[in-house]
Amino acid sequence: MNDCTLQMKGISKKFPGTQALSGVDFDLKKGEIHALIGENGAGKSTLMNILMGVHQLDEGEIFLNQEKIEPKSPHDMLIKGIGMVPQELNLEPELSVAENIYLGNEQISGKIINWKTTAKKAKKAIEKLGVDIDVNQRLGNISAAYQQLVSIVRSLEAGSNILILDEPTAALMVSESEQLFRVMRQLKDEGKSMILITHHLEEVKEISDRVTVMRDGKKICTQPTEEISIDQMIYFMANQEVEKSARVKREVGRDVFFEVKDFSRDGEFKNISFEVYKGEIFGLAGLVGAGRTELINAIYGLTKKKTGQTFIENKEIDIKNPYTAIRNGIGYVPEERRKCGIFPVLSIYENMLLPSYYKLLKYAVIPFGRVKKIADENIIDLGIKTPGNDVQIKSLSGGNQQKVILARWMAKNVNLLILDEPTRGIDVRAKGEIYKLIRQLANKGMTVIVISSEIQELLVLADRIMIMHEGVMTATVDNTDRLESEDILKFAYQ
Ligand SMILES: Nc1ncnc2c1ncn2[C@@H]1O[C@H](COP(=O)(O)OP(=O)(O)OP(=O)(O)O)[C@@H](O)[C@H]1O
Ligand SMILES: [Mg+2]
Repeated sequence: MNDCTLQMKGISKKFPGTQALSGVDFDLKKGEIHALIGENGAGKSTLMNILMGVHQLDEGEIFLNQEKIEPKSPHDMLIKGIGMVPQELNLEPELSVAENIYLGNEQISGKIINWKTTAKKAKKAIEKLGVDIDVNQRLGNISAAYQQLVSIVRSLEAGSNILILDEPTAALMVSESEQLFRVMRQLKDEGKSMILITHHLEEVKEISDRVTVMRDGKKICTQPTEEISIDQMIYFMANQEVEKSARVKREVGRDVFFEVKDFSRDGEFKNISFEVYKGEIFGLAGLVGAGRTELINAIYGLTKKKTGQTFIENKEIDIKNPYTAIRNGIGYVPEERRKCGIFPVLSIYENMLLPSYYKLLKYAVIPFGRVKKIADENIIDLGIKTPGNDVQIKSLSGGNQQKVILARWMAKNVNLLILDEPTRGIDVRAKGEIYKLIRQLANKGMTVIVISSEIQELLVLADRIMIMHEGVMTATVDNTDRLESEDILKFAYQ
């Protein structure tokens, strides 16, 4: 007997210039957690988008409970019992938790929406997962981890038996991921099936029953998780050995390049002061909600600070807005690239080099030949997967978009580069490449500030690490060989 609730057979999909999927087989059993892994651009999201009816397949068949289906839209699939928790959550921060859970699926009595029943039902649904969230709270007030759970509850309440989780832990700290895994195990015990897309292979090991590896739009293998090691997964994904990223001891002088004095902003952070040395890679650690991004936004002039001064080489600079920051040689790669990092419909080379055009001008003319040549060099150096430098950036996979944004600031040669979660959603091999690049830049004298929720990333990359907790700086530590994640966590939780 066939025990698969879901089967995808021979799925192919071509986008202009890219064969995104070729003859991919994938199946899912009842009560199974099936990890779907592969490098950036391997085709994971495309496969799931076909399943959800976001894209239409060119070839292949899909069966749900032995019955052939033709997915039309995510809504259609939700009715059929498949829900997707997308990487960029599509919740409404201004609405309450309860409202978010039943949005589009309101509890109607008569002709009016009955919010009292809604809140009650929401409370029950959340309690079932063993978490304690106030359902009347504004969604925007709860942590990213809880928002993730709300999104899951929303799919469950709509009747999903199959859940697709596209990089759900990318924005979570270790302990928050643990909570998510506990919920996933519970759902599994209840007979729900889950597809987990992630670049965190330790998590694949920890939580999944089977793994499917994809590469270049093809399925490489499907195996029980206990029969495949992390090294093997990496090998199958990359089709070659990949060097492990290790901590590198760098020599950094003690010349202060950038100084922040007494930064405060009501409700976000308080009395933050720190110094960063020239050529240093300075890490910023903390839980989601610790105030790191808020602090950087204020430093960069994106929001208004209450108090605070900034100095470059002991000279005070008045950063009123990002424009003055850039004029002072400071670059910033924000966390949410989709919202504030990319120009979606512009080409790769434009996204990469627009801010550098003024530097490349020849007799007031933009030398496009040269621009495209630099873009091509970056595409090769960073291993950006694309059919060419002139395709719209929005058609690249998530990880590859991130690489283009990094290349933008590398080309600009800023003196201080601030990176917020620079490798979120980036595969293991590309991560290593990005770490190398950041080090190269720092070795050439660029000063770098890196925010990361992945402590391991800071341990590999940073020379010193500053830790924040609820808007307050709790410690700054040297990253020596003896420093371990627990030492950082201690200050992140307080
Ligand atoms: N709408 C689209 N138009 C054109 N090309 C696309 C489109 N969506 C995806 N692609 C291409 O299809 C390939 C597979 O992309 P996909 O997003 O499925 O990768 P992924 O495995 O999810 O990668 P990541 O880990 O970076 O999210 C990539 O080469 C990508 O550029
Ligand atoms: Mg993807």
